[in-house]
Amino acid sequence: MKDKEEIIKNINKLKEEKNAIILAHNYQPKDIQKIADFLGDSLELCIKAKETDADIIVFCGVDFMAETAKILNPDKKVLMPEIEGTQCPMAHQLPPDIIKEYREKYPDAPLVVYVNTTAETKALADITCTSANADKVVNSLDAETVLFGPDNNLAYYVQKRTDKKIIPIPIGGGCYVHKKFTLEDLKRVKEKYPNAIVLIHPECNPELQDNADYIASTSGMLRIIINSNEKEFIIGTEVGMIDRIELELEKIGEKKVLIPLREDAICNEMKKITLQKIEKSLLEEIYEIKLDKDIIKRAKVAIERMLNIKG
Ligand code: 13P
Ligand code: SF4
Repeated sequence: MKDKEEIIKNINKLKEEKNAIILAHNYQPKDIQKIADFLGDSLELCIKAKETDADIIVFCGVDFMAETAKILNPDKKVLMPEIEGTQCPMAHQLPPDIIKEYREKYPDAPLVVYVNTTAETKALADITCTSANADKVVNSLDAETVLFGPDNNLAYYVQKRTDKKIIPIPIGGGCYVHKKFTLEDLKRVKEKYPNAIVLIHPECNPELQDNADYIASTSGMLRIIINSNEKEFIIGTEVGMIDRIELELEKIGEKKVLIPLREDAICNEMKKITLQKIEKSLLEEIYEIKLDKDIIKRAKVAIERMLNIKG
């Protein structure tokens, strides 16, 4: 059995030999966060994937994120170190038949889909959005009514920030990790830390959004904490985010109290990748993301429309 240091050394050697880059989402396990070339939220990862001149992208995250990297780089090799169990459940809640049904009902309404969707679904959308830009994307559209899916909680967040009528599709769409948080959780944690600043991800239920000091994407939360003079923060998102913030605070020699809103807010799909699997992935060039050319072409239009929104 190789030790951790040996594996990391080999990963770095393979990366150099093959001109590969490791992109990782903010929820990835700490070991992976430490060796990634770039860490970010969904929007930052899209931008990085578009900009990179590496020949191979090793994507540490969930299925829709690696697919998005492939859509933006059809000629590059995009690898996921693990393919089993890395499907974000929410990304599969808006299949083509549901889209068809709503398109027929609202023929004039554009369809905005969260990047947490399959490539096939993105190919049927007018534009994509992430948690960092959903309100901006919707407000950029020349329409009074907008179909928005699959996250109903993100739809609620957007509805509060636009005059347009948002139709959330499908009914009940959302993330099993973020839906866990309740007002009771917030009350319990607030009792212990009454002065803590409350940060809530827009995938959380409306009552949590309504009681937040800030609602932000994962990297948005990181920026708020880094730039704040406050010392205590309640983190209303997946627990991996705490490692991510701590890593960044360590770099600048700062210490803050980070309190998870729930210890069991764990995205199982995000935790399947290990250092050993990354090493194997680079060595054997597995598991390659392969998508239909026509789907790539159409999904790319929806993603690039989002990336081209100014301001
Ligand atoms: P962010 O884009 O805010 O990182 O969110 C991605 C995600 O899947 C949250 O559950
Ligand atoms: Fe999907 Fe939720 Fe995991 Fe994010 S936290 S990847 S939305 S299951």
